[in-house]
Amino acid sequence: MVHFSQAFAAALLATGVVAHPGGNTNKEILRRQAHLDHPERRSVQACKRDLVESGWVREQHLRREARLHELRVAAGFAKPEDLVRRDVGEVEEEYGINAACTLDPEATEGPYWVTGELIRKDLLNTEKGAITHLDINVIDTSGCKPVTDAYVELWGSNATGVYTGVQARGNGDGSNTSLKSNALRGLQPTGSNGTATFITVIPGHYVGRTNHLHTIIHHGAKLLPNNTIQGGTISHVGQFYIEQNFMGQVEKTSPYNTNTQKVTTNAADPLFNMGKQGGDDPVMKISLIGTKIEDGLYATIDVGVNPKAKQNPQPVNMWTTDGGKPVPNSPWTGYPDTCRYCGFRPPKKERDIAGEVLQGEE
Ligand SMILES: *[C@@H]1O[C@H](CO)[C@@H](O)[C@H](O)[C@H]1NC(C)=O
Ligand SMILES: *[C@@H]1O[C@H](CO)[C@@H](O)[C@H](O)[C@H]1NC(C)=O
Ligand SMILES: *[C@@H]1O[C@H](CO)[C@@H](O)[C@H](O)[C@H]1NC(C)=O
Ligand SMILES: *[C@@H]1O[C@H](CO)[C@@H](O)[C@H](O)[C@H]1NC(C)=O
Repeated sequence: MVHFSQAFAAALLATGVVAHPGGNTNKEILRRQAHLDHPERRSVQACKRDLVESGWVREQHLRREARLHELRVAAGFAKPEDLVRRDVGEVEEEYGINAACTLDPEATEGPYWVTGELIRKDLLNTEKGAITHLDINVIDTSGCKPVTDAYVELWGSNATGVYTGVQARGNGDGSNTSLKSNALRGLQPTGSNGTATFITVIPGHYVGRTNHLHTIIHHGAKLLPNNTIQGGTISHVGQFYIEQNFMGQVEKTSPYNTNTQKVTTNAADPLFNMGKQGGDDPVMKISLIGTKIEDGLYATIDVGVNPKAKQNPQPVNMWTTDGGKPVPNSPWTGYPDTCRYCGFRPPKKERDIAGEVLQGEE
């Protein structure tokens, strides 16, 4: 696996598949490479036996089936007595192998992370799109247990591929119209099963990137009276994706079908391909709540982290009661034209980020 990924990274560096609005891909390739090669890197798959034996896989499967059923009943697509359970043995067998379950591709925070977002479950504000009930389980792959005291941060672009809280050339029309919105951004605590839940929309595509959601996992942060967090450490920076055929169906629905930005498929997105390496699977498992996409979606994914790992993502803005405000000296300030992280090749110093990741994960 290591040899394959090294060859893959070298090939990507050589082809120069780099300059695009996902951020600095060279830096990204090196960081991802360091992650894949790290001797302590473990996948959720490595915890399969512990998680199955402790009954956690079974419990989580039953919990998620019951939740989907509850959403179906609430939306009028099922009766309470309709719940038909899948064979749990089969689920345990498959755990960590197929797309239903997953792990931690360390991926870039990208140019649009806004820190200081609110702790809240419903991120919609007034955004339209394929409404998605997202259920994220966080697993400590160093101890093979759910992480019960983390905060999961989530953000994504809107259905037409524009981020809130930021202003940048290429983010929509480049104007400041979404600067005052915090839609599709927020955090949730993991709770007793290691689960954080959100309501958001399937993100729209934008130039150079396939559809994706961003996540950051925070540990040891302090809850402030205004419902934000402060301090702590970040063990994981990742991106979740949508299976391509399904995404194609979503893109045909309104308002996705009004997005005029050029499409990038999963297969054509270098960050997606990096995220798929090393046995990792960053694709969410998505079920229809009703009979069509417009009836709403239920999505699940498991994220493996080492809570002691320390990543150092950089926010471009900070959320305030007056909208998104610049974070002083952010390396993303000026994106995509003049920022420190904008360049075709990262500056020498940034290339050493691989070393930083190795130290951080000890
Ligand atoms: C954790 O999972 C168990 C078993 O599915 C469930 O009974 C319990 O309500 C869950 N706890 C939370 C906080 O969701
Ligand atoms: C947004 O830009 C307009 C000019 O295009 C300006 O008048 C306004 O003050 C700006 N608003 C913010 C929040 O920056
Ligand atoms: C996405 O955000 C942009 C900027 O605020 C807005 O113009 C557009 O209408 C939004 N898309 C949808 C589907 O609401
Ligand atoms: C929340 O409180 C912190 C600490 O006082 C402050 O820095 C931050 O701006 C506040 N955030 C919001 C959204 O009110």
